[in-house]
Amino acid sequence: MSDEMNKNLTWSESDVPRELRERKTGQRGCVIWLTGLSGAGKSTIARELERVLIDTGRMAYVLDGDNIRLGLCSDLGFSSEDRDENIRRVGEVAALFADAGMVAIAAFISPFAKARTSAAEATPEERFFEVYLDAPLEVCERRDPKGLYKKARNGEIADFTGITSPYEAPSNPAFRIDTSKISVREAVAMILEKVI
Ligand code: ADX
Repeated sequence: MSDEMNKNLTWSESDVPRELRERKTGQRGCVIWLTGLSGAGKSTIARELERVLIDTGRMAYVLDGDNIRLGLCSDLGFSSEDRDENIRRVGEVAALFADAGMVAIAAFISPFAKARTSAAEATPEERFFEVYLDAPLEVCERRDPKGLYKKARNGEIADFTGITSPYEAPSNPAFRIDTSKISVREAVAMILEKVI
């Protein structure tokens, strides 16, 4: 939207203060943002985080790359511009979830540092946790859970992250977890210990 259109908009503030919402729900909303290559374990760790949180009486919801691309972002592809727009939208959605008091777990390759920074800025700093799932490309490619690396190597998918499209590693994530060395359970425990 152009700045010209933006100037005719005013943010409508809720009558429910954050403190009251948090007292009623008994939890603090936040965003756990998982970034990393395809096959690094984002969806697996996101699902386990969600399950553990729900099992312990918390409200949590996974925003997953493939799922979001089947709906909210079905108009977007994998060019740099489209990926940035994908991450911008999800950053805004995750911020709304956190504002509503939920634990939003975002699982996106989110390969570009600038777009990740913008997404983080949509949520108050102390409520946003960047988690870098840092598995070596060889390991992700060996796992190849969706057979996409194989297709990318065969030239059947263009702009595939790690093969024909770059991944910019986070420089200062809240957590850096090498999923070729650390189990899903350990990763989830590490994250939850600091976040909740
Ligand atoms: S992002 O780069 O915009 O953050 P996102 O996480 O939403 O990506 O989507 C990645 C998912 O889309 C992958 O898990 C994979 O299943 C699928 N995919 C299809 N084409 C590509 C591609 N060219 N590069 C990466 N992932 C792709």
